[in-house]
Amino acid sequence: MKLIISITTIVLLLILSSCSSEPKKELSKSFATQSALNYSARQGEFLYNKYCTVCHGAGGEGDGFNAFNLDPKPRDFTDFEYLSNFSDDRLFEAINQGGRGINKSVNMPSWKNVIKDYQVSYLVSYIRHFSTTNNNNEMIEK
Ligand code: HEC
Repeated sequence: MKLIISITTIVLLLILSSCSSEPKKELSKSFATQSALNYSARQGEFLYNKYCTVCHGAGGEGDGFNAFNLDPKPRDFTDFEYLSNFSDDRLFEAINQGGRGINKSVNMPSWKNVIKDYQVSYLVSYIRHFSTTNNNNEMIEK
């Protein structure tokens, strides 16, 4: 009886140890990649992939599959020079109002009836990460 118990214990321990080592590693790895984006940018990433990649591209370079149709091209969010001219409020406005609302191409849709204001702010955070710019009020607004 003792032998059976100790064998069972060993088997259980083996199962437990094999379970606990693997997933832990994966968990910490995915956490490390995710933590490069802050909370709002991660929320924005989800929305961006859903609504914006078709035109702006998954990497934000303005090369989504719909982009070849458009003139002017969708904005390239990796363009540091361009993005650093805009405040967060201005980017918010562009997404909320669309091109028509900011005197740009009407091919940039208005999202105000689709995406809630607080979610538009998430999108602004996410767009910022492509260009590594931030909301610097000292920069001139276009
Ligand atoms: C149907 C294609 C299309 C979709 C979908 C689209 N955009 Fe655009 N977007 C454009 C085009 C085209 C422009 C360029 C407008 C111009 O420069 O006149 C643009 C420009 C922009 C700009 C810069 C405006 C400026 O001031 O120069 C922002 C910011 C932007 N889009 C954000 C978004 C976000 C966020 C989404 C998703 C919620 C999105 N876009 C979805 C086509 C699109």
